[in-house]
Amino acid sequence: MERREYYSLFETTRARGWLIYRVFAIFMFVAICFIWFYRLSNITINGEDGKPWASLGLFGAELWFGLSWLFSQALRWNLVFRKPFKSRLSQRYEEMNLPGVDIYVCTADPDIEPPIMVINTVLSVMAYDYPVEKLSVYLSDDAASDITFYALLEASTFAKHWLPFCKRFEVEPRSPLAYFNTLASKTYPHHHNHAKDLEAIKKLYENMKIRIEDAAKLGGVPKETRSKHSGFSLWDSYTSRRDHNTIIQILLHEKDPQNSKDVDGFNLPTLVYLAREKRPQHHHNFKAGAMNALIRVSSKISNAKVILNVDCDMYSNSSQSVKDALCFFMDEEKGQEIAFVQFPQSFENVTKNDLYGSSLIPVTEVELHGADGYGGPLYIGTCCFHRRDALCGKKYNGRSTNDWMSENSHVIETNLQELEEQSKALACSTYEENTLWGKEMGLRYGCLVEDVITGLSIQSQGWKSVYYNPTRKAFLGLAPTTLLQTLVQHKRWAEGELQILFSNYSPAWCSLRSISLGLRMGYLHYNLWATTCFPTLCYSIIPSLCLLVGIPLFPKIYSPWFIPFAFVILGESIHNLSEFLIFGGTIQDSPFIITAKFMDEDVSQRYEKEVMEFGASSPLFTVLATLAVFNLFCLLATLKELVLSEGGVRAYEEMLLQVLLCGFLVFINVPIYQGLFLRKDKGSLPTSVAIKSIALALSACVLSKIFI
Ligand SMILES: *[C@@H]1O[C@H](CO)[C@@H](O)[C@H](O)[C@H]1NC(C)=O
Ligand SMILES: *[C@@H]1O[C@H](CO)[C@@H](O)[C@H](O)[C@H]1NC(C)=O
Repeated sequence: MERREYYSLFETTRARGWLIYRVFAIFMFVAICFIWFYRLSNITINGEDGKPWASLGLFGAELWFGLSWLFSQALRWNLVFRKPFKSRLSQRYEEMNLPGVDIYVCTADPDIEPPIMVINTVLSVMAYDYPVEKLSVYLSDDAASDITFYALLEASTFAKHWLPFCKRFEVEPRSPLAYFNTLASKTYPHHHNHAKDLEAIKKLYENMKIRIEDAAKLGGVPKETRSKHSGFSLWDSYTSRRDHNTIIQILLHEKDPQNSKDVDGFNLPTLVYLAREKRPQHHHNFKAGAMNALIRVSSKISNAKVILNVDCDMYSNSSQSVKDALCFFMDEEKGQEIAFVQFPQSFENVTKNDLYGSSLIPVTEVELHGADGYGGPLYIGTCCFHRRDALCGKKYNGRSTNDWMSENSHVIETNLQELEEQSKALACSTYEENTLWGKEMGLRYGCLVEDVITGLSIQSQGWKSVYYNPTRKAFLGLAPTTLLQTLVQHKRWAEGELQILFSNYSPAWCSLRSISLGLRMGYLHYNLWATTCFPTLCYSIIPSLCLLVGIPLFPKIYSPWFIPFAFVILGESIHNLSEFLIFGGTIQDSPFIITAKFMDEDVSQRYEKEVMEFGASSPLFTVLATLAVFNLFCLLATLKELVLSEGGVRAYEEMLLQVLLCGFLVFINVPIYQGLFLRKDKGSLPTSVAIKSIALALSACVLSKIFI
């Protein structure tokens, strides 16, 4: 064969301005060392005053902050950006030579995740611009809800119209609901045929939506509908969500040609519904367990070499993503070692200023690029393409065969019913007993962030991963819309990350040979995230407390020791702010998809107005409110002294940084004061929280005045 010049299927570039950043980081580090030194040498001096605890506390906090900053530099030192070349992919591979792709959508609760939302996700991934014979979509329903099944059945019929429509008019995005919503803000299609077909398809969609929502309202599928599809009989033996047989239905498959063609006579992708067996006496391992059942069941049905998993509350915003991802896997030179291609999780229902910081801009726009520079981003549980072999525990041994075509040899010649029967056994609740599933195969169990630990264990087998963050976002999801939801989510992440520190994959002390030092430090940054609460508490209590009783803790403004403090404070603030603003410009403000169905009317109104939602009385809120009120008291007392006492101003010159810190804490807590004292709506902080926090803060102030 004649040797052609080789063009890579993707390109990797370094961030601009990396040298400037490194110089800045080195200066920062020097300044941090000065701060450590200042604090250490001052512990003894204050010791003579009899107040070593304050300096000791601050030293601990500053040491910790400094180390945590150091770990976070691993995620900023070497940012890389990836760019795939789809046109080269299609030049090099004919459609028939592309690998199969299995797409998993996981849902767990039809009340929180309405079936109509779930099928919009399913339809958007069925409509990828990819050969349909190679595409299979699996819905895992951990609630085993017949309404979700019914919705998927409806979607399989609607797909017969929707997919040809998408192809004909090159529709984007391909979630019907999202597409109709974009039309609301844009001009209608000019083309006559397009407008006509659009009307027709919208009507089909609306009718389907009404049928599904009616079924949900009734709490069950109507009798005459049930009789039309044999699949519903599988619910005859169903007792409860936690106790039922495996339910598996292959809704569309090429072996059932009459049913699996669209209105233009072309094949549709394979579509499968799965509710794995659940028994109260067996642990089901949440989403990780569902994913592993899907991996096994799909290996029987389509056994594609590439797996994409998405959450049911997000849809594909680009029909090209599969091809983008394949450019990485299929590159002959560098693709072999790539185990997964992670896309960022982007959100559609964030407000203009992203009230709860759901977009995690520093993580998605900076840190994951930095992890990529050191051998691979974390697996974040959704929007991720996997190489099946790697996910199933295979080690990377220097070369993988890149044999993309052998999948179908597995799938034995059987009819659909036999296929369903055989797959059923793979999803039963005892299947994993005495196997490596959950330990070395599939998603790993026993961790609150099973996705991250799975990615880590794949990387420790020698594989690399890739982060691809296209300008036009590939997946759009829904962000939490109340403060409590956000805090609970962060708490789960933080706890899960901490669990990893003490697991068999701890980046701190396990020999993860193939993971570079930089990536280890990057992981550690997240693993230690939860522990940052202690230094944060120290820093929001000790300086204000000492301000109240008149103990200076920071260097005076004319002292040379003031310089490193000022440099670190200003440097970090400006750096963080610019990171946020540079990428914050991409926050979109799209037409809102507020559905009163899954959100209280006035909650959603407050969310749109960016008024923080408290409402519930949670210990998390009591802690926040107490700190806020305590700092407010300290600041007020200080201001009173400043105004009323003689020489007050001079006294506080010595404590300028403390006054500023206290003022800053009060400033960032303004939404809490509003929630405590000014607002009257249902989303404000409950009176019990207000009473508790005031009492606690007041006693802290009084006690410190008496005893210090
Ligand atoms: C989603 O896709 C549409 C095109 O269909 C594009 O205009 C929009 O910018 C994308 N959204 C994001 C957040 O990138
Ligand atoms: C945004 O997403 C969250 C799920 O995280 C959901 O609870 C909320 O209702 C959504 N809001 C809208 C407006 O869809």
